Amino acid sequence: MSSREFHITKLGKIYCADSLDLMKEIKTSSVDLIITSPPFGLVRKKSYGNVNADKYIEWFKPFGFEFKRILKENGSFVIDIGGSWTPGLPTKSLYQYELLIMLCKEIGFHLAQEFFWWNPSKLPTPAEWVNIRRIRVKDAIDCVWWLSRSPWPKASNRRVLLPYSESMKALLKNGYKPKLRPSGHDISSKFSIDNKASIPPNLLAIPNTESNSYYIRYCKEKKLPQHPARFPSDLPEFFIRMLTDEGDLVFDPFAGSCVTGEVAERMKRKWICCDMVLDYLKGALGRFYQVGSLFPRSRHTKEIFYKLYNPSARWDILSDDSLLIDGGKKRQINNEITIADNRVTMKNAATKEKATKIAEKSFRYRNKKAFK
Ligand SMILES: C[S@@+](CC[C@H](N)C(=O)[O-])C[C@H]1O[C@@H](n2cnc3c(N)ncnc32)[C@H](O)[C@@H]1O
Repeated sequence: MSSREFHITKLGKIYCADSLDLMKEIKTSSVDLIITSPPFGLVRKKSYGNVNADKYIEWFKPFGFEFKRILKENGSFVIDIGGSWTPGLPTKSLYQYELLIMLCKEIGFHLAQEFFWWNPSKLPTPAEWVNIRRIRVKDAIDCVWWLSRSPWPKASNRRVLLPYSESMKALLKNGYKPKLRPSGHDISSKFSIDNKASIPPNLLAIPNTESNSYYIRYCKEKKLPQHPARFPSDLPEFFIRMLTDEGDLVFDPFAGSCVTGEVAERMKRKWICCDMVLDYLKGALGRFYQVGSLFPRSRHTKEIFYKLYNPSARWDILSDDSLLIDGGKKRQINNEITIADNRVTMKNAATKEKATKIAEKSFRYRNKKAFK
């Protein structure tokens, strides 16, 4: 594999190659975890060349077979796959579900569990359906399929525990009376044993807001492109922690800026990262070495949490909440009010200041009416 070898670290190797070719040189049953975020079947083309949603499954299939071949019997394949909208329509492609079905039914992977990565900082898009016509909600979830060769991949949720919620802490303090729940679940006294931390759900709250990281500063300094679709390091870290041991081999076949490699190196796993675009890999080097006064970041324990409101908690905010009979097919030209981050703004006004003034006045008026 040396001809395509781009860089070597203490534990990892970076290759600049088509990963389908590279995998032919990787031994059968040798990888503990494949974790990756492939190019998504996006409607809008990204600079690194996405395949259209409908052709996606056929494009992915040969990769899928190779992934299965190189994985160990108790290994895992975790794929972060964002959604895609039908061009020109407010409907979604089924491609990430078709992909999942193909990987399981045709290639023979098991779905160990589905995860959902919620990006709390996601902007409201697509603007046409979400902000302008107001007929869809913000798309803030990526599907993350955890697949495995056998139904028994090695794993432990003890590695990825969370702090207890305030209500759980209160329950532990005040005690819990064992009883049969209406659902039939028998909540025994074991429920009130303090295990110091709680088992996480399959919803991972991770903002993707890197804006001043070492990697970004390195790319700026070296005048290299910043990868446009990086995942946050907390995402591969969760799965590397839960599914591998120190010394295991982790592979990212669509590595981009090598976030996976950075996390694996820090966590003392061996790793291979592969991408076809040389400039992305040149930028990735910044993740591994000190350059000038810049240092790669190290991981801190972060007890950050996100609040999720009860769905439609502000249902009462507008007095006129009639539905669009045509489902929003015809674009409405109105002075639409947008409320975000405690700011009220209105579209279609001559100036921004004017828009905000009118919108705030109207908002106060509507609110008064609604609360009467
Ligand atoms: C969504 S990005 C991955 C980003 C990465 N997770 C990160 O955080 O930087 C997908 C990457 O796959 C790469 N790619 C697409 N087809 C490839 C192939 N056949 N072999 C290797 N890399 C490929 C693209 O160049 C792109 O950088």
